[in-house]
Amino acid sequence: MIKKLVVAITGGSGFSLGMKLWEAVPSNIEKYLIISEHAKIVAKHEEKIDRIFEDSQIDAPVASGSFRADAMIIVPCSMNTLAKISVGIADNLTTRTASVMLKERKKLLLAPREMPFSQIALQNMLSLSQNGVIIAPPVIAYYSENQKLEDMENFLIGRMFDLLGIDNNLYKRWGE
Ligand SMILES: Cc1cc2nc3c(=O)[nH]c(=O)nc-3n(C[C@H](O)[C@H](O)[C@H](O)COP(=O)(O)O)c2cc1C
Repeated sequence: MIKKLVVAITGGSGFSLGMKLWEAVPSNIEKYLIISEHAKIVAKHEEKIDRIFEDSQIDAPVASGSFRADAMIIVPCSMNTLAKISVGIADNLTTRTASVMLKERKKLLLAPREMPFSQIALQNMLSLSQNGVIIAPPVIAYYSENQKLEDMENFLIGRMFDLLGIDNNLYKRWGE
């Protein structure tokens, strides 16, 4: 059961998806948010926001294994952050926390956003998957009930929560 969840937003397109997922985390889960420096730049292009948190705080509690976070979601996950995590680079709070999740054998879900994927990105994803990381790119579903962007985002967030065992009713399940 997930009690402590870290959500990180990196500089891939889809800042709003990360923020919506953050807001949708059930209130019984203790949640922590990291936003990369480059995510702030993307955010400026995509929407106006009042307050963002730093990922330069390498000494934040989530950067330590003793913090005992149960899971981490990085959404969107840039190819840059994906590559760093795949080779063990831990140069900011996002990559450090991801490396902690790996060493502590905790759940790590990445939502890589790029189109198309380079062979390097695909190789990095395979290597991460072989190390137990859940690779869940934000691939939209064209079900007739998912007409609006909001419905599609709820579907994606609901599927990501499902993968971590976080109860939700964010989307209509197949056959319901
Ligand atoms: C407007 C904008 C959109 C971007 N979209 C993506 C993207 O969808 N996927 C990606 O991998 N990088 C994207 N980038 C490039 C990353 O932001 C860049 O590689 C950055 O170094 C990532 O840093 P971070 O991983 O520390 O957040 C985008 C950059 C800008 C300015």
